[in-house]
Amino acid sequence: MSDSALPPPERRNFYGRTHGKTLRASQKDYLANDLEPLRLKGVTVAENPARTPLDLSLTGGRPLWLEVGFGGGEHLVHMAAGNPQVHLIGAEPFVNGIAMLLGKIRAAAVTNLSLHPGDVRDLFDVLPDASVSRVFLNYPDPWPKARHHRRRFVTPGYLLPLARVTAPGAEFRVATDIPDYVRQALEEIPPAGFALERQAGQGAAWEDWPSTRYEQKALREGRSPHYLTFRRL
Ligand SMILES: C[S@@+](CC[C@H](N)C(=O)[O-])C[C@H]1O[C@@H](n2cnc3c(N)ncnc32)[C@H](O)[C@@H]1O
Repeated sequence: MSDSALPPPERRNFYGRTHGKTLRASQKDYLANDLEPLRLKGVTVAENPARTPLDLSLTGGRPLWLEVGFGGGEHLVHMAAGNPQVHLIGAEPFVNGIAMLLGKIRAAAVTNLSLHPGDVRDLFDVLPDASVSRVFLNYPDPWPKARHHRRRFVTPGYLLPLARVTAPGAEFRVATDIPDYVRQALEEIPPAGFALERQAGQGAAWEDWPSTRYEQKALREGRSPHYLTFRRL
């Protein structure tokens, strides 16, 4: 299947949550004041109905890394702080997570990142071909019921656009605590144009791995991490 056979943005389904518990006053302040300067313009259909590719001059020619579903943002800020030679983009539709990330950005004073506060598929539409050199997918929504497995990120609706926007040789890291997610990742990611490079378990994460909120929850609840590394062909 080519990604031109996938539904257009206005016909995509999004099944996740966009709002959680009431935001604290400080978080409302971050959203009101800090989001707009960091938000990538021209990603939503409303702002860019023609789906014109983004002008990436804001990266200053630095390599571009992407985190899908950054949750509370601990991994994204850690990567931005540790890699000032890179520009990072994070996509996340859950407002409480975005507010948490903005608080961490203020505390860490990192400047080499941009946000898309929404569905990563809208970002895929407008990223230029082969523009991303590393992708992080940490603890994607597990969708445990078999009838919901087609909602997972590791399906062609996400993987084909991801393949288009990643450069040859780009690294694609996936962390999950769900054995059946590993199965589906190993089945569906290689046909989209990525080779499996490394598969590791608990205690053998990437050397710059800071862990995430969701991983800590999984460990407390007795589930084991799996770390997969793919390389774009
Ligand atoms: C289980 S949480 C993990 C969060 C974080 N990566 C961590 O490890 O703590 C999965 C996250 O993916 C986000 N997500 C789900 N679908 C998404 C999409 N289409 N685009 C961007 N993020 C998405 C959810 O909102 C949620 O915050």
